[in-house]
Amino acid sequence: MNKGLFITFEGADGCGKTTQIKLLDEYLRGLGYETLLTREPGSKGLGVKLREILLNYDGEVSPQCESFLFLADRAQHIDCIIKPALEMGVVVLCDRHTDSTVAYQGYGRGLDLEQIHSLNNIATGGLKPDLTLVFDVDVETSQSRVGSEKDRMEAAGVEFFERVRQGFLEIAKSEPERVRVINSAQTIEEIHKQVIDEYKRITRTCK
Ligand code: TYD
Repeated sequence: MNKGLFITFEGADGCGKTTQIKLLDEYLRGLGYETLLTREPGSKGLGVKLREILLNYDGEVSPQCESFLFLADRAQHIDCIIKPALEMGVVVLCDRHTDSTVAYQGYGRGLDLEQIHSLNNIATGGLKPDLTLVFDVDVETSQSRVGSEKDRMEAAGVEFFERVRQGFLEIAKSEPERVRVINSAQTIEEIHKQVIDEYKRITRTCK
């Protein structure tokens, strides 16, 4: 059984989740918790190489191949980094995880959702986050935050990101206990306060 807590941060590119994960990390460290701030794709080692391909490869990449590369990164991340940390009682904060594959490769690229769920399950060995926060903002705002220098995924276009956004909202609807939507159009401080409220809610439930 895991002694730690596993929290994932999700949302479309430019949704502001990376700022929020850092703020929660600081808050928890301030309370004396040991934390691990990590990300997918590419936390370290082999993952960094996979990330480089996923974000910067400039030739053709089929949607299935793209999925398997994200899933390969996830399997490595879970086995070598996340599980050992959770077993040691660490609070793991992960920037993107399984729900990104459902939203981007499933809703965004149009791959079969059932298959993605099964593949996610294989990659994680069935481990699920205790809490997932989806940072939701309209596509126009998130795209303007990304700026003009886009990586391979960010360059997918507005319609793609509309589908990704809807994907995250559908995931939250289907798992309302685990997945909470936070309106990311608010100020950084307001969003941080809601993140802490969600953290407190889940630690009460986990006790
Ligand atoms: P990253 O620079 O980490 O984006 P962000 O800062 O917005 O998290 O790039 C990760 C990209 O990979 C991002 O566009 C989302 C995408 N992605 C998927 O398409 N599927 C996945 O399973 C994961 C984990 C990420």
